[in-house]
Amino acid sequence: MATEKLPEFFYEIFDPSSLPRLGPGDDASTTRALNALLAATSREDAGRPIRILDVGCGNGAQTLCLAQRPDVSILAVDNHQPFLDELQRRAAAAGVSARIQTSLRDMHSLTASDGPFDVIWSEGALFVMGFGEGLAACRDLLPAGGGLAASELAWLLSDPPDDCRQFWAEEYPAMTTIAKNLATIERCGYEVIDHFTQPESAWWGPYYHPLERRCAVLRERYAADAEKRALIESIQREIDVHRQYAGYWGNVFYILRRS
Ligand SMILES: C[S@@+](CC[C@H](N)C(=O)[O-])C[C@H]1O[C@@H](n2cnc3c(N)ncnc32)[C@H](O)[C@@H]1O
Repeated sequence: MATEKLPEFFYEIFDPSSLPRLGPGDDASTTRALNALLAATSREDAGRPIRILDVGCGNGAQTLCLAQRPDVSILAVDNHQPFLDELQRRAAAAGVSARIQTSLRDMHSLTASDGPFDVIWSEGALFVMGFGEGLAACRDLLPAGGGLAASELAWLLSDPPDDCRQFWAEEYPAMTTIAKNLATIERCGYEVIDHFTQPESAWWGPYYHPLERRCAVLRERYAADAEKRALIESIQREIDVHRQYAGYWGNVFYILRRS
């Protein structure tokens, strides 16, 4: 993908106010994961708010969903300030600003001194560190028994057509199976409370349909700019591959407890 060559244009495509979210997901999955996690974890001082760290929060779709609970205090971390600005704007509109603090940070710089948190949340973002490396880094920020919920792409079927195997070999070569991710999770010192694959609708309604509309607007705006067009088409290609081969891979939510 031409992303590295045109970082500013990449962020223009992923304009925080034009897109509901920046990766697949939906409120039903976030709520399901949160309920499963809270039912299976306990806190010593249940009187204070639940401290949640949201890693790679983006423009905050899942942050706002988590903040619907009155008993949470969320630190939402991302390395792109316009995403955090949009998250704050949405939080104010939803009347939940008091429960959310944002921080412009590289997730690699999070250390034990930032914690401990009762819960770490990360939808579609741990891959930035590497799924295993991300789990290991988060472990240092959690007390024993603390909870972590993270979504991560996984192959669901073992025989993907060459076309889609090749696409993902270039886009995300680290993508592996659920079984291998479960083994990584155990190796990193977590117990699995639950895991589930998000429904196909979580890709389209909140993510690919709005992104495809954004690509259409920018395709027209930058019709004469070959470099920008190439980046738009590389994003369109992911959407088209998904449309053609849905079901061979998915976005899997893992709900975990630190051992
Ligand atoms: C696929 S998006 C997911 C965003 C959001 N969780 C969602 O599901 O809509 C990945 C997010 O990770 C953020 N990110 C990428 N690299 C990062 C880093 N090194 N430190 C902090 N955030 C990072 C991006 O800015 C982006 O918001």
